[in-house]
Amino acid sequence: MQLGALRRNLVCVFGGGGEYSPTDIHSHGGGAQLAALHTMVAYHIREYRPEDYETVRDLFATGMSEYVPTLCVHMLKQPWLILVLVCTFCLLLTSSKSLLLPILAITLLLAVGRQLLGYVWSMYIDQCLQEDLLDIQATYLADKGSCFWVAEADDCVVAIVGARPSEEHQDELMLKRMSVRKDYRGCGIAKALCRAVISFAREHEYRSVVLNTLMVQHEARAMYEGVGFHVYRHYVLPTIYGRLANCTISKYRYDIPSVD
Ligand SMILES: CC(C)(COP(=O)(O)OP(=O)(O)OC[C@H]1O[C@@H](n2cnc3c(N)ncnc32)[C@H](O)[C@@H]1OP(=O)(O)O)[C@@H](O)C(=O)NCCC(=O)NCCS
Repeated sequence: MQLGALRRNLVCVFGGGGEYSPTDIHSHGGGAQLAALHTMVAYHIREYRPEDYETVRDLFATGMSEYVPTLCVHMLKQPWLILVLVCTFCLLLTSSKSLLLPILAITLLLAVGRQLLGYVWSMYIDQCLQEDLLDIQATYLADKGSCFWVAEADDCVVAIVGARPSEEHQDELMLKRMSVRKDYRGCGIAKALCRAVISFAREHEYRSVVLNTLMVQHEARAMYEGVGFHVYRHYVLPTIYGRLANCTISKYRYDIPSVD
């Protein structure tokens, strides 16, 4: 993988195209310049084409499925779950007078919980794949107020993002389905895709770009904040499962400065 990364860096440094210009490289200066070169990758952003369909869906599903371990950790921090686990442990310990049974029971409970969470999360991913990602062309490219982009590197699609009018306010553009292939992260591709969405919003006279993140998407939130998005609303998903899991959604917004 290191060789692959090095090759990608060389492609960019020796003029393989991409989003960076020599000015970008020089602007880092000194030792930082070397660090910047390390994360260089030759990529370009273009509109979605029908032949990208499977890769786009796969990139989305893979990116989202990575969150299962983080979701498990989030669940294990919930006070009601800690209470259930501690009570179960104590009850089994007092009734069996052995450490083995409660330890086995808790391990089993955690394993079942992990599987259950994975199953629920995969259902959520499937649901997304059956919504806007089922017919990407019709959802994002039939109307001039919406669009879907991919980033290509090494002749492959390595990142995706979509944008369409928000259901709440038609003058807000909703950024959706951002995902970058794992081995191409940290190269600035997601930020570049965000900037593509912002430029599109500006060209189409939207007032702002909005998006939703979940409490476990720490990298994504840091990335959006780095681009200039700010949180304007936090809320817990108003369903039984949402409350049980303390599933918090943060809504982000980037205001497009008006020209007059
Ligand atoms: C979130 C995601 C899109 C970021 O893609 P990326 O190409 O690595 O992001 P970029 O290189 O453009 O931006 C890097 C910025 O992201 C943030 N970031 C990325 N990885 C991070 C990490 N592990 N820890 C903290 N911040 C991180 C930082 O702000 C970083 O900026 P910096 O380099 O100046 O510190 C990518 O991790 C991903 O696809 N995740 C899975 C899918 C997902 O969560 N999508 C978002 C749905 S809302």
